[in-house]
Amino acid sequence: MCLRLLPSLLVSSIEREMPLGERGGWESSESMYCGVETDFSDDVPSLLSFHISTGGFDYVLAPLMNPSYRPSLVEANGSSDTQALPVSGSDLVLAPSQWSSHVVGKVSSWIDLDSEDEVLRMDSETTLKQEIAWATHLSLQACLLPTPKGTSCANYARCVNQILQGLGNLQLWLRVPLVKSDGDSMDATSEGLNDSWELWNSFRLLCEHDSKLSVALDVMSNLPSESSLGRWMGESVRAAIISTDSFLTNARGYPCLSKRHQKLIAGFFDHAVQVVVSGKLVHNLQRASDSNAEGTQRHPLRSYLDYVAYLFQKMEPLPEQERIELGYRDFLQAPLQPLMDNLEAQTYETFERDSIKYIQYQRAVAKALVDRVPDEKASELTTVLMVVGAGRGPLVRASLQAAEETDRKLKVYAVEKNPNAVVTLHNLVKMEGWEDMVTIISCDMRFWTAPEKADILVSELLGSFGDNELSPECLDGAQRFLKPDGISIPSSYTSFIQPVTASKLYNDVKAHKDLAHFETPYVVKLHSVARLAPSQPVFTFAHPNFSTKANNQRYKKLRFNLPSDAGSALDSLAILIPSCIKMSILGSSLQQKHQTCSAALSPMHNTNGRSYWVGL
Ligand SMILES: C[S@@+](CC[C@H](N)C(=O)[O-])C[C@H]1O[C@@H](n2cnc3c(N)ncnc32)[C@H](O)[C@@H]1O
Repeated sequence: MCLRLLPSLLVSSIEREMPLGERGGWESSESMYCGVETDFSDDVPSLLSFHISTGGFDYVLAPLMNPSYRPSLVEANGSSDTQALPVSGSDLVLAPSQWSSHVVGKVSSWIDLDSEDEVLRMDSETTLKQEIAWATHLSLQACLLPTPKGTSCANYARCVNQILQGLGNLQLWLRVPLVKSDGDSMDATSEGLNDSWELWNSFRLLCEHDSKLSVALDVMSNLPSESSLGRWMGESVRAAIISTDSFLTNARGYPCLSKRHQKLIAGFFDHAVQVVVSGKLVHNLQRASDSNAEGTQRHPLRSYLDYVAYLFQKMEPLPEQERIELGYRDFLQAPLQPLMDNLEAQTYETFERDSIKYIQYQRAVAKALVDRVPDEKASELTTVLMVVGAGRGPLVRASLQAAEETDRKLKVYAVEKNPNAVVTLHNLVKMEGWEDMVTIISCDMRFWTAPEKADILVSELLGSFGDNELSPECLDGAQRFLKPDGISIPSSYTSFIQPVTASKLYNDVKAHKDLAHFETPYVVKLHSVARLAPSQPVFTFAHPNFSTKANNQRYKKLRFNLPSDAGSALDSLAILIPSCIKMSILGSSLQQKHQTCSAALSPMHNTNGRSYWVGL
């Protein structure tokens, strides 16, 4: 969620300076904002005026209900029918747009839905429902749910899941401390929490991966290991709440963060995670210069906000290509099926923009030409080259340019099964005057009876997982017309696989509520993923392959070792390489004690009923 600030309607004094500023080359739609955690106040306009106008923060993370409120006490007084809920003020004190852009609601932190104490448990459930209902009434964008009190949170999750079923646009952020002990009890929290990812994982599983449920991480002064932090990059983390206690003091007495914290925060910015500053002023720097021109005191947490803004502004600008591709990040793209379907002009145009690819093809064809025809025979011998799957002709052009560059005589057959692309091919040949050199064949390469054999077979049939657009099947058919010593370009390719968790992608697929989408080998530009182990090669394909045993049924079992400090990871397990194929994982979980993941790749079958993704 990107909190956008709307013009102040009722509280005219609320005017903010600027968010965290601009990251070089960053799209304005990607601006980052910084919130501040506050105590309960029944004067919300003053609260906003102080933290937003004076403090420069973008929004407040504020309790919605008086913390002393307990439904059972109100009932005991017999006043439940006559008393209004002790909320932070009437909805009328702010315009709906202000509530939604300046306030994230904080559900009472005392609630404990798994308490043994029945009164507390009942009070907790009632209050949680009342606060969420109030937040919905105010049109808030998000509400922070308090951290579960212990490691067992079944009733809390059950209740939240029930709320999620009827929730409109409100997002719920479960507050979770960023901890993972490495066996050293010092790292664990007082509630005995050793690995907060486990807590989050159990909670969201009980809430059926609802996409309206996300995490807000409490960033502590001690950070867990890199591998364990990496798991959070595949989760829907919405906010990082940094306590003022986690800041160090620089030489000039100002707050700053450790190098590891800086790296973590930069990673969060890169994943659109909002930062919230929490706590009291612990770097006591109030000086004369801390008052502004009108003599108003500077906000006590301003130096923390300035430091967060500094971290954002010093980030490297995004490379041009990355910026162009921003819209594709973590976006499920339906895979192409060029053998079954006829590609559209727009798709060919996208291929043809990849100039590097055609330069490499031209180089490869030039080398093959020189390899087959020595200089002294260059004027006598004509090389027969077949472009199989010629599309609109870029590989025909690259091949002719290679012939010109090497001064070799070339005869080209351009084989294409898409009749629409064949129209373009005919126009191209006519326009370029290639009629003497190029013959167009409108046919499926697997069934063409070629009039002669080829020296060189050029194709570009690769899917992003190598064979998933059926390159081996097509080339096995086409190699009938390649001379026994002929050359295939490409001559080989390998697919790779890597286990990752990717909560957003999992939810996007799950939203379709059918198996077909879990079985679809989507193409994805991965961004919010946790890479659990290094990638490994899966299948290598070599062409030509004249072996009589050639067969395109493949099966492979791989073992991935997860770093021992990573903790467990599963459930939104995904696998991806350049794009994805579906794979099944043998064994139902990756537990901490068994730091391995066995993967059996079988593109057509999912043996254990779970779908996973594969990618790089
Ligand atoms: C990925 S496109 C590449 C097109 C072109 N070579 C380029 O680089 O722009 C693959 C092309 O192969 C064609 N194709 C796929 N299978 C084929 C087959 N069995 N026989 C003939 N053409 C095929 C498709 O129609 C498509 O035009």
